[in-house]
Amino acid sequence: DWNSGNVIAEQVARIREQVGTGRVICGLSGGVDSAVAAALVHEAVGDQLVCIFVDHGLLRKNEREQVENDYVASTGVRLVTIDAREQFLNALAGVSDPEQKRKIIGREFIRSFEAAEKSLLAEAAADGEPIRFLVQGTLYPDVVESGGGTGTANIKSHHNVGGLPEDLQFELVEPLRALFKDEVRAIGRELGLPEVIVGRQPFPGPGLGIRIVGEVTADRLEILRDADAIAREELTRAGLDSEIWQCPVVLLADVRSVGVQGDGRTYGHPIVLRPVSSEDAMTADWTRLPYDVLARISNRITNEVRDVNRVVLDVTSKPPGTIEWE
Ligand code: XMP
Repeated sequence: DWNSGNVIAEQVARIREQVGTGRVICGLSGGVDSAVAAALVHEAVGDQLVCIFVDHGLLRKNEREQVENDYVASTGVRLVTIDAREQFLNALAGVSDPEQKRKIIGREFIRSFEAAEKSLLAEAAADGEPIRFLVQGTLYPDVVESGGGTGTANIKSHHNVGGLPEDLQFELVEPLRALFKDEVRAIGRELGLPEVIVGRQPFPGPGLGIRIVGEVTADRLEILRDADAIAREELTRAGLDSEIWQCPVVLLADVRSVGVQGDGRTYGHPIVLRPVSSEDAMTADWTRLPYDVLARISNRITNEVRDVNRVVLDVTSKPPGTIEWE
């Protein structure tokens, strides 16, 4: 019989045995897997662990604060945030092709992670204790991905171009290797992590960068971030989070249509709502959201978000549509 308390005790003992007095680093993504993995390692070896969080500017509203404030407050982990917003925007300038965006985001992510790691290495060298370990939030479905199996793991490795470099000289610490997602969530709750992180729905690594159809700019990110926050807020308020697998909110940045707002005609962008129901993201159906919830989201987005004068609903299943628009 499975018990999160036992799993935590077992993993803590294991991590201590593996790591000894060595230093450990962990990249946080804002998602549940890396958050729980890091919390377990911190439980085991305290400040021998340093977490790195790259703010690539493609995050959703409040995500950085959730990590920097709520997560740190509940775990006590040492956190280094890399503000790489400018770097990513510059690298993405003029790029519209989705796979090109993914490549650039993957490459810049590794670049900023490595820069952070270098400065930590310098600090480590000063006290004679090298960084020997890297924490990864690998889950059981990621482990069994070989053999053409299904699952989000395949999607992850398929989409996330690059991942961390092969020549990394770290020994991996993977405390979630035997666990499924719902078990990871149970452990996260047992460890007292914030619900916004533990209960988070899937969110792609390249973030809002692949939810702007067209070039990514600071201006467009701000528009999308505001629209996305409204949609999430209203879905949560209506108690629909557990019915929805995820709900991408997409900005059609190169499309404009005529609207009438306030005193005059406008020429603004459409926002797409893409609520889906799914078991594993391999197939999905569009979620039949209540009309009054859709109406509220639409009213609020068109009233509160500048440059948006239309909200449309995506009623395509997967296949033939993918969940994301890019
Ligand atoms: P699609 O759009 O392929 O998405 O139906 C399936 C699942 O994968 C997520 N997704 C990504 N996750 N990096 C990720 O880490 C990516 O580049 C990426 N693209 C899609 C998507 O949100 C959905 O859960």
